[in-house]
Amino acid sequence: MLSVAVTGCGMPAAAPSWHHQARHHMVAADHPDASRAGLAILRRGGNAVDAAVATSFALAVVRPESCGLGGGGFMVIHRPGTDPVALDYREQAPAASNINLYRDENGEFVPERIRRGALAVGIPGTVRGLCYAHKKYGSGKLTLAEVVGPAFHLTGNGTIPIDEHLRLALCGLYADKVGGHAVPETEQAFVRQIGSYAHINEHYYRITNLKRTLYAIALEGEDYFYEGPIADDIVATLKQFGGVMTHADLANYEVREFTPLKFDAFGYQCLAMPPPSSGGAVIGEAFNLLSALGVQPGQSIDKHLLAETLKAAFADRAHFLGDRSPAVLHDVQRMLDAERATELARRINRDRASTTSTWGNIAISDDGGTSHLSVIDRNGMAVACTESVNLEFGSRMRVAGWGFVLNNTLDDFALDATTPNAFGLRQSERNLLRPGARPLSSMSPLIVLKDGKVRLVAGASGGPRIISSTVQTALNVLVVGQSVRAAVAAPRLHHQWLPEKLYVQPFQDVELLNELRRKGHTLQTRRDIGHVQAIERLPDGTLRAACDPLKGGRPAGD
Ligand code: DON
Repeated sequence: MLSVAVTGCGMPAAAPSWHHQARHHMVAADHPDASRAGLAILRRGGNAVDAAVATSFALAVVRPESCGLGGGGFMVIHRPGTDPVALDYREQAPAASNINLYRDENGEFVPERIRRGALAVGIPGTVRGLCYAHKKYGSGKLTLAEVVGPAFHLTGNGTIPIDEHLRLALCGLYADKVGGHAVPETEQAFVRQIGSYAHINEHYYRITNLKRTLYAIALEGEDYFYEGPIADDIVATLKQFGGVMTHADLANYEVREFTPLKFDAFGYQCLAMPPPSSGGAVIGEAFNLLSALGVQPGQSIDKHLLAETLKAAFADRAHFLGDRSPAVLHDVQRMLDAERATELARRINRDRASTTSTWGNIAISDDGGTSHLSVIDRNGMAVACTESVNLEFGSRMRVAGWGFVLNNTLDDFALDATTPNAFGLRQSERNLLRPGARPLSSMSPLIVLKDGKVRLVAGASGGPRIISSTVQTALNVLVVGQSVRAAVAAPRLHHQWLPEKLYVQPFQDVELLNELRRKGHTLQTRRDIGHVQAIERLPDGTLRAACDPLKGGRPAGD
């Protein structure tokens, strides 16, 4: 039955390049085969949600380092003529999670325990999220098996070609293994499962067993994952290595549905992800602050003011945000308030970089494995979806019999307000690990409307750099007036308040860099500042898409 669906759908080609123009519908994912999967579904009459679900299942095959069935994500959906929705299928702390599990016998935190191996794994949300989205917001014309079909097709003979991004991720994995780091037992097993060291010199990565997993989900539904044989194996695998996730955790996992965060900026209406994402609040606050600093449509963006804005907004992220609670939701509204923007603008000096202490004294996380996809269909429905396993290859554990990687998203929690996370940084107490909570995220799916019609769909991967890269892409299109292709290709900068560094991509204008140094910024070059996938819709209906050339995606559309 599934193979009929697969053969029936065919697999269209992705665009020959990282940017593309189309008339009717478009998918922009960070792997060409994933965009093709979404386009196949759009051609069969599926809507933007069906296409996003198909694209995401395809990413679970071709981007195992970034996302997949063992991870979680967020989806923002614009539905012409009716209310937009935001789906939260982020990973969640198991009921038996306990901060003391991460302490040694002297009571000291061992951060490595929340970063790698069984205690790093949050209850995966992706399968339930995708099935929920398909059932509730899909067109109803295509069965789950049909939507999973293209992904199933991509599992081919149990291997996928290794592209540059996957090659680098594998190199990172092996570098840790041979580089003298203490590699946990679980990680050694992971490396053994996916191949020998020589594997990275070959062209194919083994995805053994994923075919049967997709087949089972497509035909049996999500319960096969959350309450059936896959759940049994997730629980058994984690238990073997000291994990605490139970059958009840998986069976009780629920998708949360919210109204997206709505704010106006530069004459547009934005739909963004509310907590546990920090993306919407930080983007909204940054846009407000830039407006308060005098940025107007038609102007270029002053990079010093942009850096100061990011510092201020990231500091608020660290102080105010965490999983949903009345206090967090209250402070999100405060962050979006025009008065807050005026107050922050007063603290910014136009000629001099602020010190980090201007904005308080705690910091946020920085990390490395996520995937963003954008879709617009022929009826103007749009989806912005970002999914992750957190760091590349997540916890570096696989559920062997089913071939997928388990996340290490619990590392997005803080253990306490002083213990540094994976990158030596700290976070606020509002984001402390608690049983049943979902950790704060930087994933920032964004949809921008003009007079009720979609103008831009954007988002990125790249930890906290997701927020800055999405902000800059949106500003380049909406304020500066660049095409989405120029906007995605433009070199970006990133400031996350702490550390006291302004990260800049190569190929920035030398004069600009000198001016930033003169104003007191400490610059550090960074190859990647987020990987953005964006689609814009022009007033005449033309769709233009760009997939960040540094990750290797290509859009697909007609
Ligand atoms: O939700 C978050 O903020 C992180 N788990 C995202 C990690 C990420 O983007 C890694 N990057 N490519």
